[in-house]
Amino acid sequence: MGLKVERWCQITWIIVCLFLSSLVEASDTYDHDSLDTFLCKHANRAIGKPRTGAFYNISLPGNFTGIDISVVRLRTVSFWLRGVNYSFFNIPKRVVPQPNRKRMAILYENLGNWSSHYYNVPNYTMLAPVFGIIPYTSSETTLIDCEKMNLIIQGKPIRIQFPHIRPHAKNVTPICVKFGADGSVKFRNMIKPYVCEAKSEGHYTIVVPTTKSHTQNLSKGFKFNIWWVLGFVICFVGLFVLVLVLIIVVKVVKRRKIRKMEKNSEKGEAFDTFWIGETKVPFASIRRTQPVLENDDVPS
Ligand SMILES: *[C@@H]1O[C@H](CO)[C@@H](O)[C@H](O)[C@H]1NC(C)=O
Ligand SMILES: *[C@@H]1O[C@H](CO)[C@@H](O)[C@H](O)[C@H]1NC(C)=O
Ligand SMILES: *[C@@H]1O[C@H](CO)[C@@H](O)[C@H](O)[C@H]1NC(C)=O
Ligand SMILES: *[C@@H]1O[C@H](CO)[C@@H](O)[C@H](O)[C@H]1NC(C)=O
Ligand SMILES: *[C@@H]1O[C@H](CO)[C@@H](O)[C@H](O)[C@H]1NC(C)=O
Repeated sequence: MGLKVERWCQITWIIVCLFLSSLVEASDTYDHDSLDTFLCKHANRAIGKPRTGAFYNISLPGNFTGIDISVVRLRTVSFWLRGVNYSFFNIPKRVVPQPNRKRMAILYENLGNWSSHYYNVPNYTMLAPVFGIIPYTSSETTLIDCEKMNLIIQGKPIRIQFPHIRPHAKNVTPICVKFGADGSVKFRNMIKPYVCEAKSEGHYTIVVPTTKSHTQNLSKGFKFNIWWVLGFVICFVGLFVLVLVLIIVVKVVKRRKIRKMEKNSEKGEAFDTFWIGETKVPFASIRRTQPVLENDDVPS
């Protein structure tokens, strides 16, 4: 019996722990800092012998289908002298990367359909994917060291041309957005249709104010439902544990009582006993006190 109760305790704990750890993982999945770190490390592993000045498209594991990244390694001097143009990004000359190193690498990110998983602007709708431009330190032997660099831009800013803009209402003007490392969101007007200026490295996109519509209400209802279900599951697990503890307590108390009764009965007269269910019931033997006849004169 004791073993069984312990088993149940163990099983319950395992269930609770698994449940809690899955919650923690779920909240960790869409952390954009860890995404940057993952992409950087992956890019470093993907290219064996990188050539300086060459652009590489990095293919990602299947679970990241939809994200595009490219990388280039440069001599810091040539970056400062010439700037660098690649795909939708135009970095002018005279941009100073910090800390000061001989080599650097630039990671270009297009988060594609993953954008809204990692970044969000409350009350605004993203019209384009989130684009990232992130400089890292580099060395002769490794493509990227994954130590982030800052860009000091005093002259012309970086320009980002956003392609694949989602259709939007004609009477609203889209706005550029910069996502800060601290989770902040900064707005800035476009300089040309779908062209944003960037005064630092980081992640950018284009948004319009969200108009209240049915779809939004639907998605809000959906979110509410998810929390409701989560709360329900937590309550259920809590209740399960509570009931289990109660059962254990009741069993232990019961067993103690029975043991006490047994001990008492053993100390007292040695009754013969029989069982009814789990309870020992004493009964007096018929033969305990033999009837003694007064005299031997038995009528035959
Ligand atoms: C990377 O892929 C894009 C298309 O996704 C293509 O336009 C570009 O030329 C490729 N770059 C390199 C260096 O292969
Ligand atoms: C994708 O798979 C890689 C391993 O291939 C893993 O490190 C990463 O956490 C996974 N990411 C997601 C979002 O599932
Ligand atoms: C993005 O789209 C690709 C197919 O193009 C799909 O495999 C992937 O699951 C999508 N990712 C998300 C987060 O929706
Ligand atoms: C990048 O493009 C701009 C024009 O968009 C041009 O003036 C500049 O010379 C180009 N830089 C390089 C390094 O090709
Ligand atoms: C979004 O809009 C709602 C009302 O329309 C407002 O209560 C809320 O504060 C806004 N959120 C932000 C981050 O501005």
